[in-house]
Amino acid sequence: MTEVIDGNAVAADIRESLTESIETLESEGVTPGLATVLMSDDPASETYVSMKQRDCEEVGIDGIHVEIDSDAPAEELYETIDDLNADPAVHGILVQMPLPDHVDERRVLRSVDPVKDVDGFHPENVGRLVAGDDRYRPCTPHGVQKLLEAYDIETEGANAVIVGRSNIVGKPLANLLLQKADDGNATVTVCHSRTEDLAEKTRAADILVAAAGRPEFIGGEMVGEGATVVDVGINRVDADTEKGYELVGDVDYDSVEATAGAITPVPGGVGPMTRAMLLYNTVKAAGLQTDVDVELP
Ligand SMILES: NC(=O)c1ccc[n+]([C@@H]2O[C@H](COP(=O)([O-])OP(=O)(O)OC[C@H]3O[C@@H](n4cnc5c(N)ncnc54)[C@H](OP(=O)(O)O)[C@@H]3O)[C@@H](O)[C@H]2O)c1
Repeated sequence: MTEVIDGNAVAADIRESLTESIETLESEGVTPGLATVLMSDDPASETYVSMKQRDCEEVGIDGIHVEIDSDAPAEELYETIDDLNADPAVHGILVQMPLPDHVDERRVLRSVDPVKDVDGFHPENVGRLVAGDDRYRPCTPHGVQKLLEAYDIETEGANAVIVGRSNIVGKPLANLLLQKADDGNATVTVCHSRTEDLAEKTRAADILVAAAGRPEFIGGEMVGEGATVVDVGINRVDADTEKGYELVGDVDYDSVEATAGAITPVPGGVGPMTRAMLLYNTVKAAGLQTDVDVELP
């Protein structure tokens, strides 16, 4: 029987534990604060930001939201980040990507104070993660690790194959699974658009992570018997629904289900974990900046 990995349930457990961590912070007079900055008219980005704000409210994190016109000068964003860096009520800063073309994305990533960088994208935090001394693990890869842990899927000695090498998913996840640590110790292969014989590589995976942004691109013939399949993909495809589209993963669920030992659905797999791990990093950030010892799930 294929096990369906329930991201909603694991994320709910994490949120519940975080509520207790937040109570500890509150008892020391600290309310964790997360600032979200939106400089985009993209409806998907607007939805993501409002979901993050709602998540904050639910667990007791102060949400501070800043919106900047997408055609405003880039300086306005840089100044906003400086202000948020200096604000002691703000422990975490999340600048929603993608940004308009006239904004220097690298400059933005570098200008967030690394101790408030709850996305984990600042070069200092990326370097620390690679060196095995992480401060904030990027939310999606960390969420994948937590899902594997929750379902007792052993990474040690496993062949982990990741399809996708982006800075937000593929690369950090590869680095995390590679670490000499209980939730690492995997043998990691990272595939991308120039990989040859992709199916041969994916079939050899004990843990296969699909993060290519290609709707239903991993089919049953690409998955080895009993493999754990983690579908990070979220793709909008045209559909006869009220919104005119539906969300599908990178995995062709119906064709993979028979072969996989365990599989994450879309929606309800990695997505809710990404959101929960942002709250996790914000609580961690509040603890680090106020010297309050908080237990994290
Ligand atoms: N569940 C969540 O919370 C969450 C969070 C973040 C992202 N996502 C979703 O995850 C997916 C990936 O996101 P991303 O930001 O990592 O995407 P991205 O920046 O577009 O990167 C996609 C990666 O996949 C590789 N790729 C594309 N086509 C391929 C093919 N035919 N064969 C092999 N590799 C291929 C690309 O290779 P090259 O490097 O060679 O171009 C690239 O490395 C998207 O659907 C995104 O919406 C979900």
